[in-house]
Amino acid sequence: MFLRKKEKQHTLDMKRIPQHIGIIMDGNGRWARRRGLPRTAGHKKGADNLEHIADYCASLGVKALTVYAFSTENWARPQDEVDTLMQLMYDYLLTVEKKFAGRDMRLKISGDRSRFSDKINHAIDHAEEVTASGNGMVLNIALNYGGRDEIVHAAKMVAERVKNGTCCPEEIDETYFAQFLYTADLPEVDLIIRPSGEQRLSNFLLWQAAYAEFWYSDICWPDFKDRNMRQAILAYQRRDRRFGGVK
Ligand code: IPE
Ligand code: IPE
Ligand code: MG
Repeated sequence: MFLRKKEKQHTLDMKRIPQHIGIIMDGNGRWARRRGLPRTAGHKKGADNLEHIADYCASLGVKALTVYAFSTENWARPQDEVDTLMQLMYDYLLTVEKKFAGRDMRLKISGDRSRFSDKINHAIDHAEEVTASGNGMVLNIALNYGGRDEIVHAAKMVAERVKNGTCCPEEIDETYFAQFLYTADLPEVDLIIRPSGEQRLSNFLLWQAAYAEFWYSDICWPDFKDRNMRQAILAYQRRDRRFGGVK
């Protein structure tokens, strides 16, 4: 009886899988430091882990996975770390065509691309193009992304439309505004996960987090496995989402 109950508690409800999950891929540096390795080794291991977790999420039927890979504030890190992160991004983008073949996944990059080199921007265009027909999960990588920056960027686009007469201020509501966010073509974010023990958003999905559920874990991102993802989804499925109403 006890076992059956326990088993039941640990079974995912496949009808209530979060449609859109956000992950703040944090803790690469600490993972490396604890092993006496350079921080860059943690970033490499973290990048490898993304592939496993993305596959696991896709296998569950998650529609979109947004992962925070580089924030608008991460430029403040030592130049050699920024350079390594840029190189890792570039290397990853070059492997996308091969990696995504047969995976039915679409790659999307969200963030301010103006600070990236032409080389990286071309690699982004190419990676998005060759995966564009993927109808399964969207893997949305947030690069030079900041929630505040995203909102300012959207506000500028709305202002431009008001200026050229294609929109009047009375038309602007939350739905209108949200079409200018990077996530406009994705479902609402249901769950945000932050490994590494920190309990803050660090400028991730500020608008989209409005009614998302949060889940924190002390495990650093490179060690974050399918079973941890499962735990997060199980916790999500136990939550009572009221959206300001009464149940
Ligand atoms: C996340 O790991 C990766 C990026 C922010 C690019 P960190 O590099 O922040 O790792 P910690 O938080 O220092 O352990
Ligand atoms: C958030 O982590 C950004 C990414 C994981 C890409 P940080 O490590 O930059 O955040 P803080 O500095 O701990 O808030
Ligand atoms: Mg960190």
